[in-house]
Amino acid sequence: MKIFLDTADPDEIRSAAEANLIDGVTTNPSLLAKVATHREPREILLEICDQVDGPVSAEVVAEDCEEMVEEGRRLSEIHPHIVVKVPLSQDGLRACRTLRNNRIRVNVTLCFSAAQAVLAAKAGATYISPFIGRIDDAGHEGMDVLSEIRRVYDTYHYETEILAASLRHPKHVREAMLIGADCATLPPDVLHKLMKHPLTDSGLRAFLDDWERAGRQL
Ligand code: E4P
Repeated sequence: MKIFLDTADPDEIRSAAEANLIDGVTTNPSLLAKVATHREPREILLEICDQVDGPVSAEVVAEDCEEMVEEGRRLSEIHPHIVVKVPLSQDGLRACRTLRNNRIRVNVTLCFSAAQAVLAAKAGATYISPFIGRIDDAGHEGMDVLSEIRRVYDTYHYETEILAASLRHPKHVREAMLIGADCATLPPDVLHKLMKHPLTDSGLRAFLDDWERAGRQL
């Protein structure tokens, strides 16, 4: 399973990439707006792409198909790692098809149902991003939607990769892994929590204490 970092913060991305923890990055307009207060978004995206050896999703902000395609083309010219993110609207799906016909990779975002995911696959999406946490927030089961997408994609042999998004805690990540999502995008704090286990900490402490008591050198 590929692990992406869900942030536009170049420092977080650098640190995770240097530790070889991530296979790519996803951004969205909200995440980019947080860090692009004094810098050009394009410059930040370029910095991110230079740090990561994998796909970096960058989202269009237009709502109309032709403008989305134009923005998508411009985003894709920033760096070969860029994957253009379009929303799951009728215009977004049309833009997806046009961009894919131009060999530009597309992540269809803001997916909340298996039926939407099928439409994205039929539009040639490279990735589909179901928003698990936001489905939970709305009182439904995000993981049920993820399972349905996995089942339907397997049944019809769609090649679109399932990118579990809006993951809020390690349990979400574990469930997405078990369901068979192809990728999961994690906010930095969830990635840090994923690494931690109390038994790892106490086990390490015990090993080091025993070693010190024995007074040995390696
Ligand atoms: C995914 O690509 C989105 O950037 C992200 O996962 C949305 O997460 P949120 O619902 O926590 O904002």
